[in-house]
Amino acid sequence: MEHTANAEFTIPPQYKTDRSSPARWVFSHGLRQWWVVLIALVGSLGNAGLMAVASVQIGVAFNVVKTHEFNPAALREVFFIILACGLGRGLLQFARNFGFEFCAQRVERNVRRELYASLLSKSMTFHNLQPVGDTMARATNDVREVNFLFSPGLNMVIGSLSFLIFPLIAAPRYNVALMLVPGVFIVLYFFALRIYMRGLAPITEEVRASFGGLNIRLAESLDGIETVKGSAQESGEIGLFEKNITRYKDALIAQGRKEAKFLPLLLYGVALAAGLLHALLLFRQGLIDLGGVVGYFGLLLMLDFPTFASLWAYSRISLGLAGAKRILELMNRENNLDQNLAGYAKPLRGEVEFRAVTFRYGEGDPVLDGVSFKVKPGQTVAIVGQTGAGKTSLARLINRTYDVNSGQVLVDGVDVRDWNLENLRRTISIIEQDIFLFSRSIAENIAFGKPGATRAEIEAAAKAAQAHEFILTFAEGYDTVIGERGVTLSGGQRQRLALARAFLTDPRILILDDSTSAIDSATEDHIQRAIYAAARGRTTFIITHRLSQIRWADLILVVRRGRLVASGSHEDLLRESEAYRRIFSE
Ligand code: CTP
Ligand code: MG
Repeated sequence: MEHTANAEFTIPPQYKTDRSSPARWVFSHGLRQWWVVLIALVGSLGNAGLMAVASVQIGVAFNVVKTHEFNPAALREVFFIILACGLGRGLLQFARNFGFEFCAQRVERNVRRELYASLLSKSMTFHNLQPVGDTMARATNDVREVNFLFSPGLNMVIGSLSFLIFPLIAAPRYNVALMLVPGVFIVLYFFALRIYMRGLAPITEEVRASFGGLNIRLAESLDGIETVKGSAQESGEIGLFEKNITRYKDALIAQGRKEAKFLPLLLYGVALAAGLLHALLLFRQGLIDLGGVVGYFGLLLMLDFPTFASLWAYSRISLGLAGAKRILELMNRENNLDQNLAGYAKPLRGEVEFRAVTFRYGEGDPVLDGVSFKVKPGQTVAIVGQTGAGKTSLARLINRTYDVNSGQVLVDGVDVRDWNLENLRRTISIIEQDIFLFSRSIAENIAFGKPGATRAEIEAAAKAAQAHEFILTFAEGYDTVIGERGVTLSGGQRQRLALARAFLTDPRILILDDSTSAIDSATEDHIQRAIYAAARGRTTFIITHRLSQIRWADLILVVRRGRLVASGSHEDLLRESEAYRRIFSE
């Protein structure tokens, strides 16, 4: 059976949307705002309808003025109808704009929620492979494009489509034949639009993709700014960035070129001329009157809205769909939600056993191969081995950051894959090799695993972790925000904050990945004491090079190129293991 490590929590059902295609997904988001969309649709259609009424009334006014016995009452009536249409359109346009804008903002918020929940539930395998800069581009700008798809995109598209149909609907009031020009225009318009959208799709996808590429570069250079500066690679990096911005610029220019070649612009000019000619011919034959010619020409002028608005409105739709595609691509990728809610969830004792464990990252060679050992609750285990031997990887299998490829990892005699994942992880603390701190206050960083912790609990944990003293050297003590006003912490300080975190959550199993830290002896002494305190009463794995810690462990595991080459106590190993002796002679 294949298992994959993943999910910290399940996505709430209210985020369940149709993710089978970008258009359907966007539609399913829009549909949840159906009542605002309804307001917007009424606004769009009403606005276009009143515009048609006003055009017709202008024709009527011409007829009134033209007749020999001038009739002020009739003219007044026309005036009031046109005025009412103008006021009504103002209101309806407001409804249309408000509806789409409101819908767009709500959709944006929901998309953000959905994406964030999805990202946090992804496995580490996903996050290892996915560049942060690209994720950021998708989570910020592509989400924004989905917003623009609704407003102004759909706003203008629906608004202008309404303007497209009314000339056709109103023309027969003069003469059925007059439906010809608007009818032909509509057919050609949709035909041209289809070709245009097809040509635009790859271009807008390239616009979004090149923007993502730009962000990957930016995020990586900023993340690795110390390395960039340290190796004087600023100009090289700027050169690389140049390539990315040029690619983005080229994509935007291609989009502009495509837009400029939009055929309906030409169609519109031809339609006006043909329509006027048609109306004049009917006038000459006495089939319509002068007011009819004017009114009909007014109706034809309505076609300019669909023509000009669609020029950029459809690029918004296209960009929005390209953005939606990228967001979906991220959410739909490897989404094995295996929270195992029904899994084993008894209180954890802390027994850990590896049975012939083999593990590899992706498709590569095994990083761990046939590893077996057993640890009793409360024991302290030292994992030793050269760099790249697989120590960190071994530790990550215990809390299912990754899953084994074959063999089993058992905690309390139960396969970790059969544990309720949240329950398992809550009682296992890992202090990583590179300790990550959030740009929040020190107190919040310590309380990360236990959000409701009181200040007294936090301080007690910090004291146990030997961190209290250095925290008080900051002007704002526990409220000092890390990363603000130049406050950064040294490796040793970070480690003690991480230990304080562990004291607070009081895990049954503590894993301390300490293999690369090299610190002065005074700090080392502090940390040593903190670690002894932390190890008391729980199963503890320490990945370390420090002899003092290794010696003191109940069990030592010697890892070499992914294999467990020896295990036992310090004395046993010194006697029996050549590999172990070599570590100390180095
Ligand atoms: N590795 C990998 N993908 C990762 C992490 C590690 O392919 N996401 C590979 C490394 O290239 C290495 C092997 O897995 O060859 C073991 O890595 P690790 O367990 O991190 O080694 P450690 O023993 O922890 O090395 P160190 O002492 O340097 O921390
Ligand atoms: Mg390591």
